[in-house]
Amino acid sequence: MPRTSKVSGLFLLGVVATSALAAARITAQQPLAPGYALRDGKDTVPMYSDSQATAGQAVWTKTCSECHESKDVTGADFRTKWAGQPVFTLFEQIRTTMPDGNPGSLPKEDYAAAMAYIFKLNGLTPGAAPFTPDSVALATVKLILPPAPLSP
Ligand code: HEC
Repeated sequence: MPRTSKVSGLFLLGVVATSALAAARITAQQPLAPGYALRDGKDTVPMYSDSQATAGQAVWTKTCSECHESKDVTGADFRTKWAGQPVFTLFEQIRTTMPDGNPGSLPKEDYAAAMAYIFKLNGLTPGAAPFTPDSVALATVKLILPPAPLSP
C-alpha cells in the first residue's frame, strides 16, 4: 500500500509571508509549533474543539489507523499537498475517499471528528466550537500548516 509515499509530504508550500508572521506570534505561546486556518486571507480562526479531537482520536484508532500512521497526516508530503488549500476540500476528500475501499461509510460526525484530530496533530489551536463541515461557512477558510514535520 503506497501510503507513506503518497500520503506524507504535503504542507510546505502554504506558508506565505503573512502566515509566517502569525505563526511566529502563535509559536511564542504554544509548546507545539502550530499551523492554523486563515479566513479571507487574514483572520486566523479556530477550526475545532479539543473534545471533538478526542472523539476523532477514537475514530482514528478504530478505523484510520488500520492503514495509516499519524505521520500520513502530518508529514512533509501531506503538508506540501494541503497547506494553503481550502479546509473543506480536505474534508470532502477524506469523506469521499476514506476508508479506502469503503468510502463514505462513516457517519458525517465521525469524519468531522477525524478532521478535528488531524487539525490537532498538525498543531492547530482549538477553539470553543467543533469543526462543522459547512461548505458556505468554510468557503474562504484555508489551511496554513507548519513548515516542518511535527513529532508524532
Ligand atoms: C483500508 C485502508 C485505509 C483506511 C481504513 C483509511 N485510509 Fe486513508 N488512505 C489509504 C490509502 C491507500 C491512501 C492513499 C490514497 C491515494 O493517495 O490515492 C489514503 C490516503 C489518505 C489521505 C491523504 C489524502 C491525500 O490527498 O494525500 C488522508 C488525509 C486519509 N487517507 C485519511 C484517512 C482517514 C481520516 C481515515 C479514517 C477515517 C482513513 N484515511 C482510513 C488507505 C486507508
